[in-house]
Amino acid sequence: MEKKAELYKGKAKSVYTTDEDDKLILHFRNDTSMNDGERIEQLERKGMVNNKFNAFIMGKLEAAGVETHQIQLLGDDESLVKKLDMIPIECVVRNIASGSLVRRLGVPDGMDLNPPTFEFFLKNDDLHDPMINDYHIRTFGWASDEEVAQMKALTFKVNEVLKRLFADAGMLLVDYKLEFGRYQGRVILGDEFSPDGCRLWDADTRNKLDKDRFRQGLGGVVEAYEEVAHRLGVKLD
Ligand code: C5P
Repeated sequence: MEKKAELYKGKAKSVYTTDEDDKLILHFRNDTSMNDGERIEQLERKGMVNNKFNAFIMGKLEAAGVETHQIQLLGDDESLVKKLDMIPIECVVRNIASGSLVRRLGVPDGMDLNPPTFEFFLKNDDLHDPMINDYHIRTFGWASDEEVAQMKALTFKVNEVLKRLFADAGMLLVDYKLEFGRYQGRVILGDEFSPDGCRLWDADTRNKLDKDRFRQGLGGVVEAYEEVAHRLGVKLD
């Protein structure tokens, strides 16, 4: 597979076209950012860890019947994916209150959420990804009602699969963000799943094993990601 032009450079990944129109190459960089790119640091090995961790999770999701964009790992920090028509919306499921939910609603950090809650955000850095609802999506035509229903159902299906996977490895899946895209008339998962885009706590100590270590200056960021990978049996080297 030949890597061609850079199509898009995100905060942590770059996307390249290939010699096949319907396939893209994702390059997982070591860049780590917070507050819409306000602070950016290079964290050695992070690109490799996230690429391999993500491929492992995508495999688990596919095995559970959740269609994803992932085709295959291409190397340490690159993966081949299907090209989707992306829906500009972020879907967040929360099992435990933390982060922006706590800031917005004043609920206690660490509160168990029964049932888990769901939020939509508009993917727009200039507007700092504002929270939106189904009516905004309908009014502004960002997705059809059927696509909205599919995104919700798929995000919750991912929750069932991954909550169990992490629980079996001694971790709590606190929350996560997913994005979806259209592919041959279907809505499929078009996002990475890594500790950059979710919160994971050690089940006993509630120590943070995710990007909050970077956001809160706790250090040991990549070491925590590697610990998560190790607990799940993801082969890194
Ligand atoms: O910041 P907030 O609490 O709303 O984030 C909820 C979850 O979504 C967290 O796991 C966070 O890492 C993830 N997220 C993300 N990308 C964003 C916003 C949130 O991966 N742009």
